[in-house]
Amino acid sequence: MDTQRRPLIGGNWKMHGDGDEAISLANSLADARSVAELVVFPPFVHLGVVTDVLADSEVMVGAQDVSPHESGAHTGQTSARMLLDCGCTWTLVGHSERRHELGENDSLCAAKVTRALQEGLNVMLCVGETLEEREAGNAHQVVQDQLLESLKGCSSLDPGRLALAYEPVWAIGTGLTATPEDAQDMHQALRKTLSGRYDASSATGCRILYGGSVKPANAAALLTCPDIDGALVGGASLSADSFLAIASAAESWTSS
Ligand code: PGA
Repeated sequence: MDTQRRPLIGGNWKMHGDGDEAISLANSLADARSVAELVVFPPFVHLGVVTDVLADSEVMVGAQDVSPHESGAHTGQTSARMLLDCGCTWTLVGHSERRHELGENDSLCAAKVTRALQEGLNVMLCVGETLEEREAGNAHQVVQDQLLESLKGCSSLDPGRLALAYEPVWAIGTGLTATPEDAQDMHQALRKTLSGRYDASSATGCRILYGGSVKPANAAALLTCPDIDGALVGGASLSADSFLAIASAAESWTSS
């Protein structure tokens, strides 16, 4: 992590928990103070209650997905404007579970990124390779292509409004993590790609998070890498204690 970028720690609650559990988890995060920015991504149906609980807190709320459409006849979709209206400030785009379970491709991700940014929602764009792609030696090419294709509609990069999450598919929910060296290597390559596509200063300002089985035990080793600016946490974000322990790993590094 580079001290000029404020660390960002995201908690992706995925499709876990009922309303009471969402309220209780949000309550246990409400007083959190951190050097890192904290954002949670609850299931859609719990966004209203979670934004209520966290309204006066420093913890931000985001959606796990957003529609590429402005409004209209799009059954089951949720627009950026609805999310903003509900108190969200962020959205994930292109999480691998959506890419792989629902067949979301880069051009759909690009439409979502463009729409969300245009409407005023911040975007955390997720990219990552499968195990087959890594074993075939294609990880860097695959991830770079996802990045460039998904940002096709963005002619400029506002680092305060767009963050990346590098999440190797084989590390998500499996207990396997990329080594800090492999993750750093990929993050550095992503930053270089951003610099080539935009400019050095936006690339330097952009937070690139690592995701995939991040736990309190491995967070510090990842977050000390110069190009790893935070974490997107799935399983370990379902407990306030472990989520906040990961945030404090960012804290101890930043203040060291
Ligand atoms: P995990 O999920 O921490 O449970 O591996 C990360 C993610 O999918 O964002």
